[in-house]
Parts: sequence; C-alpha cells; structure tokens
Amino acid sequence: MAQKIIVTGGAGYIGSHTTVALQDAGFDVIVLDNLINSSEKSLHGVEKITGIHPEFIHVDCTDRDATRNAFKKHSDAVGVIHFAGLKAVGESVEKPLMYYRNNLDSLINVLEMMREFNIPNIVFSSSATVYGNPDILPVTEETPLKPAQSPYGQTKVMGEEIIRDMVRATPTINATLLRYFNPIGAHPSGQIGENPRGIPNNLMPYITQTAIGMREQLSIFGDDYDTDDGFCVRDYIDVNDLARAHVAALRHMINGAHGANVFNLGTGHGVSVMEMVNAFESATGVKIKYKIAPRRPGDVPAIWADATHAKRVLGWSANTPLVDTLASAWRWQQNPDAKD
Ligand code: NAD
Ligand code: WQD
Repeated sequence: MAQKIIVTGGAGYIGSHTTVALQDAGFDVIVLDNLINSSEKSLHGVEKITGIHPEFIHVDCTDRDATRNAFKKHSDAVGVIHFAGLKAVGESVEKPLMYYRNNLDSLINVLEMMREFNIPNIVFSSSATVYGNPDILPVTEETPLKPAQSPYGQTKVMGEEIIRDMVRATPTINATLLRYFNPIGAHPSGQIGENPRGIPNNLMPYITQTAIGMREQLSIFGDDYDTDDGFCVRDYIDVNDLARAHVAALRHMINGAHGANVFNLGTGHGVSVMEMVNAFESATGVKIKYKIAPRRPGDVPAIWADATHAKRVLGWSANTPLVDTLASAWRWQQNPDAKD
C-alpha cells in the first residue's frame, strides 16, 4: 500500500507542486489547508496532471482540535510536510502578531499531533531569509544566521529552533529543514503555478503580470547596488526542482536519517534582476516594460546558495534550465482556466 504523507498548505504554490512530485513518486497525499492564500482549484490542477485528486481536509492548522481530527484520521502517515504559513514579508511588519500566531501556532500544533500519533518525519519550509545579508557568498548551511529582518523571517528562525528542540526531546521524530532560495516558475503543463492575491510582491509574478498587461510596468528596485551590473542578485530555483527535493528529503528520513538536518535549496547561481528581465524576454519573446525605482527597504544586495550539501546527502540538485522555468511561468500566466 502507498505510504501516506500529510501536506499542510498543500493547496498553495509550492505545496501543490510538491503534491504532484509526491504522487509521481507513489505516495498517497493528504492535503490540509485553510485556503487563506490558495484555492481548491490548485488540487484540480494536480488531478489534471497526475490523474489523482489528493484527499483534501479544509482545516486551519492553528485550530488544535481540528488539526487533531485530521491527524487522527491519518495517523498511519509516515511523514508530514509543513508548508502552511503566511509569507508576505511586508505584511508581517504591519501585522506581526498575525504572523507569529499563524506560523508558530500551526507549527506547534502539527508537532504535537506528530508526537500524539507517532508520525516520525517532518519536512519544514524554511527560507534563505534566515541568512539576512550574508558577509560571504555563496551561503552554506554553516553560514551564521543574522537577526531576522522581519517578523516573517523571525517565524522561520524560531520555527527551525522549535523543531530542533522537539527533535532533541523526541528521538523518534526526525526533521528536515529546507531553506528555499527564490522559488519561481510553474508546472510545465501550465495547470498549477503561483497565483498571488492582489499586487504581487515578488519579482516573477510581477514580470508575468506585466507581460500579460495586468500591470502597466515593472519597477526595478535599485540599479546602484555593489554587484556586477548594479542590480540585486538572487538564486531563482524552479518550483518543480524544489518539489523533488521534498521527496528526496522524506525518502532520506524514511530510509533511516535521524535528527534534524538542514539543507539549502537553490541552484548555486546568482542572477540579477536585469538578467531575469532579459532572460524572460528571450525565453518568451515578450517585452517587459520597466522603470528603475528606488531601492526597496530590507532588500539584501546579493544572495545565492551553496547547494552542494543537498547534492551530497540527498542526491538532489536543481536541473531545470532557467529558460524552461521562465517559459512555464509564462504558460501558467496565460492559462486563465486554472486560476480563480
Ligand atoms: P502559499 O501561500 O502559496 O502556500 C501556503 C499555504 O498554506 C496556502 O495554501 C495557505 O492557504 C495555507 N495556510 C496558511 N496558513 C494556514 C493555516 N493556519 N492552516 C492551514 N493552511 C494554511 O505559499 P508558498 O509560496 O507555497 O510557501 C509555502 C511555504 O514555503 C511557506 O511556509 C513559506 O513561508 C515557505 N517559503 C516560501 C518561499 C517563497 O518564496 N514562495 C520561500 C521560502 C519559504
Ligand atoms: C527578488 C528581487 C527585488 C519585485 C522574498 C522574501 C524571502 C523569500 C522569497 C519567503 C529583489 C526585485 C522584486 C519587483 C523588483 N520568501 N524586485 N521589482 O525579496 O529575494 O525574497 O521571497 O521566504 O523571504 O523576502 O524576492 O521576488 O520579492 O525579489 O525589482 O516588483 O527582485 O528588489 O532584488 P526576495 P522578490
């Protein structure tokens, strides 16, 4: 019988792609989501891709009793991937308590339920934001963490610590903490992708929405950074590659890896904002109207991953060419039926 995985936040951007990767790998996926930043349409998209509609439980993971009921029903799960969380950096500065309440309560409830029902493995969505503005590039997992620059980032730092403490106290539970760099792109089918509500904060959806005419022009935040071309540099990782890493992390634990292990998930290459705009134009043939705008407060000039640890230990590396990732993002943007 297929091994069962509980995926909190599975209707969201990374969660829906990971659900596809898990189903492709033969796992039985149970999605828990309160749909605060997603819709069930993504799960229909998953079904179009894999032929399987994952079981969906509409639950707010900050609701302990409701979370318990969902876990009780699936107490034979071999692992949990915990994506559920709010992720808008700026909003977290405005509404810190909402972020601490949502992101930490949901994590603590999930961990409590894992203990209660003896579910042995968790994969946690952490973020490169825990490195702040690093002194040395690329960043390895040993690079010292800087004080978080937002309540959102702080929930990731604290989330990692809570999990480490829990694993120390509970040797039967193992954890993998995955620090994502900048996830972009969509499933090659164009059936699932990133569908931000309102005006996008992130570069990739802003580019695709500008390309399709939903936004007048892209504002490029700063052209005078101390980088090769003056623009900010990031490590943009294809969401399907990222999804595969979750399967690799789960397998690693199921096959006996113990304790709490942390991995950077990036390509190992930095790309500037202007390089992204140019790459999108050549991948799609669509021109992006842009203007240079002031720097965005809180942006670090440059960050990219050393991802060799994940390659060595998990046998995982990112392999989707950027041009394919940009084409998938554009295909998704042009598929109105798949969105709300
Ligand atoms: P997303 O908003 O698309 O997905 C998160 C999902 O969690 C959504 O479906 C939302 O409805 C759900 N959710 C939120 N709070 C919930 C709660 N209390 N109970 C149940 N469901 C809840 O975001 P995403 O980009 O897929 O991110 C997934 C995870 O990865 C998040 O934890 C995020 O912080 C982390 N992360 C994302 C990025 C990124 O750039 N996308 C980078 C690093 C880390
Ligand atoms: C990328 C680059 C912007 C929008 C954020 C979070 C981080 C993580 C990933 C969750 C930057 C520039 C952007 C625009 C622009 N999320 N930009 N015009 O800031 O690297 O990371 O998402 O964990 O925590 O902070 O990603 O996509 O917002 O920006 O010029 O309209 O694009 O200045 O250099 P960021 P981003």
